Amino acid sequence: MLGSRALLACLVIASVAYFAVSAEFFKPFNVSYDHRALIIDGKRRMLISAGIHYPRATPEMWPDLIAKSKEGGADMIQSYVFWNGHEPIRGQYNFEGRYDIVKFVKLVGSSGLYLHLRIGPYVCAEWNFGGFPVWLRDVPGIEFRTNNAPFKEEMHRFVKMIVDLMLDEMLFSWQGGPIILLQIENEYGNIESSYGQRGKDYVKWAASMAIGLGAGVPWVMCKQTDAPENIIDACNGFYCDGFKPNSYRKPVLWTEDWNGWFASWGGRVPHRPVEDIAFAIARFFERGGSYQNYYMYFGGTNFGRTSGGPFYITSYDYDAPIDEYGLLSQPKWGHLKDLHAAIKLCEPALVAVDDSPQYIKLGPKQEAHVYHQYEGLHLNQSGKEIRCSAFLANIDERKAATVKFFGRVYTLPPWSVSILPDCKNVAFNTAKVGAQTSIKSLGYGSLSSNIMGPGQPLHHDEVSFVSKAWKTIKEPIGAWGERNFTVQGLLEHLNVTKDTSDYLWYITRINMSDDDISYWENTGINPTLSINSMRDVVRIFVNGQHAGSTVGHWVQVVHPLNLSQGYNELAILSQTVGLQNSGAFLEKDGAGFKGQIKLTGLKNGEMDLTNSFWTYQVGLKGEFMKLYALENTEQADWIELPPESSSSMFTWYKTYFDVPDGVDPVALDLGTMGKGQAWVNGHNIGRHWSLVAPKEGCQNTCDYRGTYNERKCATNCGKPTQNWMIGSGHEANGIYHLDVPPSRGLHQSNLLV
Ligand code: GAL
Repeated sequence: MLGSRALLACLVIASVAYFAVSAEFFKPFNVSYDHRALIIDGKRRMLISAGIHYPRATPEMWPDLIAKSKEGGADMIQSYVFWNGHEPIRGQYNFEGRYDIVKFVKLVGSSGLYLHLRIGPYVCAEWNFGGFPVWLRDVPGIEFRTNNAPFKEEMHRFVKMIVDLMLDEMLFSWQGGPIILLQIENEYGNIESSYGQRGKDYVKWAASMAIGLGAGVPWVMCKQTDAPENIIDACNGFYCDGFKPNSYRKPVLWTEDWNGWFASWGGRVPHRPVEDIAFAIARFFERGGSYQNYYMYFGGTNFGRTSGGPFYITSYDYDAPIDEYGLLSQPKWGHLKDLHAAIKLCEPALVAVDDSPQYIKLGPKQEAHVYHQYEGLHLNQSGKEIRCSAFLANIDERKAATVKFFGRVYTLPPWSVSILPDCKNVAFNTAKVGAQTSIKSLGYGSLSSNIMGPGQPLHHDEVSFVSKAWKTIKEPIGAWGERNFTVQGLLEHLNVTKDTSDYLWYITRINMSDDDISYWENTGINPTLSINSMRDVVRIFVNGQHAGSTVGHWVQVVHPLNLSQGYNELAILSQTVGLQNSGAFLEKDGAGFKGQIKLTGLKNGEMDLTNSFWTYQVGLKGEFMKLYALENTEQADWIELPPESSSSMFTWYKTYFDVPDGVDPVALDLGTMGKGQAWVNGHNIGRHWSLVAPKEGCQNTCDYRGTYNERKCATNCGKPTQNWMIGSGHEANGIYHLDVPPSRGLHQSNLLV
């Protein structure tokens, strides 16, 4: 421990010294916009942006991810700001580790890229509670995202704090920093009508509040058709080439190009073919677009309990050009890099055209858009043409087409765009993938260490660095500590847990008479527990025995119970698997149970338990004892797991493993471990769950042609949605790591709980 502290201290000092000498990243420049594009330092620009959410990677990965974005042709990085990560407790801030946003922004600046910061502070993003801190629900009188004074006060306070932080750190473009663009709110247009006039007033308030903060760069609202004049309304979607902002004075920005999609436990894994993404982007720039951001360029990982929901998996890989492990996903990354290079070649002509490009119909489903650049004033398109760039599109989903353009003949594959930076030669066609293909291989001692879980043979001789020994501790069923309390009636889950844990025990006692027992024996009827409505998981125990579980989102629960004469302990464990992150009225959503809980099939009919005395216990004992923390783990009463033992519920397991040699990322296969959370060296690497995707719904071949949606080309049918979890890594090589790395040449023993 002492050794690691010393090393940490050393790292901190090094980073302070580094930033002290590089306070200014650019010669200060202004950012404005007109109807055609963002204007950066006086020049219109065509911009490619890479979406990376800083807390979805470790800080050790950031430099490499930014470098790979730049090498892939990005001009800028885009990230949300995650309120609940920065202010987990009201007034107590966290800007450390994965939440060290200042460090992230400075790394972007030092790489010469720009930044689009989407402060929200509502972010959606498949992130727990859409980025809102759960304590926000408890602010008296609050209603989220509407014209509500307590909400506006909190939102203003947080947004101002972030803007002030960036100002203090000199991170806006006019201060020499990388930030050229901001965002307030997020897709509020989706829910605005639920709030009537108050919603409209809120949009106006949010806009003027944001502008009033003095950040000095433009603000965006995405999917906001009534965005005020001084805010750019932007497009999100799989395609945005038909998008028109709500005023001629605003440029066409694509804040979220969904180049993949997220996955849910028990769901298929989405895949979007790169030919179609390239097609969508080429069409966007062809038809007047000027800024395109990949959502996501690197998706990363929902570490800990940060994933939203319900039921979003720990991986946020998103089928992005850089995969969850920080490796290039080919041919996606390479093909898009080639696309970016082609667009860059067209940039001078694209920015020169003031109005629409010249449109030429080439065939029934074929068209060209031509950007001519003339010498002198480009407003009146006259004089000598000095540059010409063109896009030739074939939007026919089936057939290739041969077209004639400016006297030359071109063959266009179906659903493709050819880019001609000089109006003659094809620099790129979206359907012709020239980039290499990568096949990820899982190697012993390279990508993964295959940790075998209970229920599988524990000895795996090929994997020399995996410990053969597992230790366990049983988690008590029901109340386990002094922190529990008893009240009459059912309390709402989040009101009790405040989301400090996924878990909440509800425990009550029910008295069964002799008469009931004989009634069941004589009639064959089973007493049944029913709960009107629940989310996300409930597990029911009677006298310590598991009686049934239900998984769902506001579904009914019905389970027969095996009850004895006299007092029975009924313990119900309510679990969240990521809080709701989208929709209106999030603050009213809640978790756990709604309606009545009752026992039916009794001699006298039914017993309503809704108003019984219930004992509440937040969390699991092991969680609150921090069994996973390095400083505690040796003191707990772990026992050896006998080699042939089978898996059991409510058990903690731990083992040690060595990080393999080399520089490759290390992943852990938790596929045999059921449902739970995992920690490595005290870091919560996320929830795991072995739910399997439906067998059906994956096509044998993925046809890129035609309009994409997230179900098309899905993969992983019949397989667990996510087995592999980020386990550990090597800091020095820009790959993630979850703890202080071992000294050179030595193996570190990692603790997996
Ligand atoms: C958008 C939203 C993003 C993300 C995306 C789906 O509607 O703005 O935050 O949730 O959907 O991945």
